[in-house]
Amino acid sequence: MTPEKRSIQAAFSQAAQYDSAASVQAETARRLCARIAARLPISPANILEIGCGTGLLSQHLAAAFPQAQLTLTDISAAMLARCEARLGAGPSYLVMDGESLEGIAGKFELIASSLAMQWFTNLPGSIANLTRMLAPGGRLIFATLGCHSFQEWRQALATLDLPCGLHDYSSAAKFPFPDGVMARIEEEIIIANYQSGHEFTRGLKTLGASSPRAGYRPLQAGKLRRLLTTLNGPFAVSYHILTVEIEAPKSPQAPRSAR
Ligand SMILES: C[S@@+](CC[C@H](N)C(=O)[O-])C[C@H]1O[C@@H](n2cnc3c(N)ncnc32)[C@H](O)[C@@H]1O
Repeated sequence: MTPEKRSIQAAFSQAAQYDSAASVQAETARRLCARIAARLPISPANILEIGCGTGLLSQHLAAAFPQAQLTLTDISAAMLARCEARLGAGPSYLVMDGESLEGIAGKFELIASSLAMQWFTNLPGSIANLTRMLAPGGRLIFATLGCHSFQEWRQALATLDLPCGLHDYSSAAKFPFPDGVMARIEEEIIIANYQSGHEFTRGLKTLGASSPRAGYRPLQAGKLRRLLTTLNGPFAVSYHILTVEIEAPKSPQAPRSAR
């Protein structure tokens, strides 16, 4: 595992209070499961979830598809344990890097993921690998962050000419699909309201979502203080959510567009 991945894994493992700061994640999971239920032609027998975290999406999947065998996975054993505490003994649980898929066998009618794949280092390669794990006619449906996420924070930093440690995310138009894969992609903005810029940064830490992009050097205390002074009142932050759907061919051949 790369040092960058180890740091992501460690940050999420320490996020014991994740659910207390996860209102956008909870809303995204609720909307994603509603979309999945509306899009799937038949009830899936086998579902694989990537980056299940504490189980915000998993609990909706379990309720929407009670007959399905759920395989819930996360790179962090601590997050997976929190998920197991929420969902109990029915599903299978596996500590796994969603980019390696080590330890997973079989085919899935549904592979789902909510707000985890923005942490991937090779998104097109990982999407191609996940697509190969789909049963004929199966769907890969995931929500991830788009380029307008946190634009208010990025703007506040740019105004003071300070570097931003947040990762860059793709637009819907330039989403890095693997060659030959056509997909359906939808986008929406969810606004999170914080009492201040400081509350926003604290929230990211509580979520375990504070691993900066490679090469970023944390702001000196004085610069951070100056920034937070400018954001010392109600602070609305955009989460730009991209929902991607890929359908496997009904008979084995190249993946095609979801309609
Ligand atoms: C923001 S949380 C989202 C969790 C959950 N899906 C939700 O909606 O609340 C991101 C999750 O992705 C996991 N994660 C990050 N990189 C991963 C990877 N390469 N493979 C699997 N899980 C990963 C983290 O451990 C964390 O649990």
